[in-house]
Amino acid sequence: MRTEYGKLNKMEMGIWECCELLNDVIDESDPDLDEPQIEHLLQTAEAIRKDYPNEDWMHLTGLIHDLGKVLLHPGFGELPQWAVVGDTFPVGCAFDKSIVHHKYFEENPDYHNSDYNTKYGVYSEGCGLNNVMMSWGHDDYMYLVAKGNNTTLPPAALFIIRYHSFYALHKSGAYRHLMNEEDTENLKWLQIFNKYDLYSKSKVRIDVEKVKPYYLSLIEKVGTTILPGEVKMVNPGFSPSRQFNASASGTEIAEFGKRREGIENGREKAFKLAGESLKWSGGVLRGCGVCL
Ligand SMILES: [Fe+2]
Ligand SMILES: [Fe+2]
Repeated sequence: MRTEYGKLNKMEMGIWECCELLNDVIDESDPDLDEPQIEHLLQTAEAIRKDYPNEDWMHLTGLIHDLGKVLLHPGFGELPQWAVVGDTFPVGCAFDKSIVHHKYFEENPDYHNSDYNTKYGVYSEGCGLNNVMMSWGHDDYMYLVAKGNNTTLPPAALFIIRYHSFYALHKSGAYRHLMNEEDTENLKWLQIFNKYDLYSKSKVRIDVEKVKPYYLSLIEKVGTTILPGEVKMVNPGFSPSRQFNASASGTEIAEFGKRREGIENGREKAFKLAGESLKWSGGVLRGCGVCL
């Protein structure tokens, strides 16, 4: 799934264009179905902007955090709802009880597999979320898109995009034993962000045309066409379980873990060398050349 979608070679559009395209999709997990998606994006971004006027990277993160939902759109393969929206969670270790509809995991073979149903499963303490295979969804897709386009957004922004549906982590405090220091720092930002993601869904309408110039200026900072998307519908390569997001096989997870280990060791060293500045100014994150 990730290999195919990570190719990013089928479709290309600007961020704003993608925001508008999102109006054509319906997220059935969203309690505010009567509001167009762009309203939610802008309400989130504007609410953050009001309280954190200087953190422009957070404003842009608010705008783009849900763009991965284009996977629901016919132009992007029209993946089923369960594969795009809803909570995300790690696979390859025990499903935490705080995950919504946890009881349905009993129908998942991994639930009964002693290699994957323990606290650590195929992972180790403090291995870092970057080394953990998450269920597939709009979070991870947008993360792949941002990474694939060499975004200059800071690591905290990528963390927010990648894990904002990981409620077991940022709401219930589960899986912290898998986090590393970098995750701990980034989680603080995610928890700030989440308040706006949830509670910005007010009935106060946004004057889209009025705020559009500001967001276009932010988009300009990161480049105008950062959103090519691989949308080819292929054999997804995971168990076609109805209730769950992509559940990779244990072998896939183990191989993934090994591959990641080598890559991430190098990345972590580079990241430390670069410094962990979250400052994002002039369109370039200091140190971003190695940490993104
Ligand atoms: Fe989302
Ligand atoms: Fe959202």
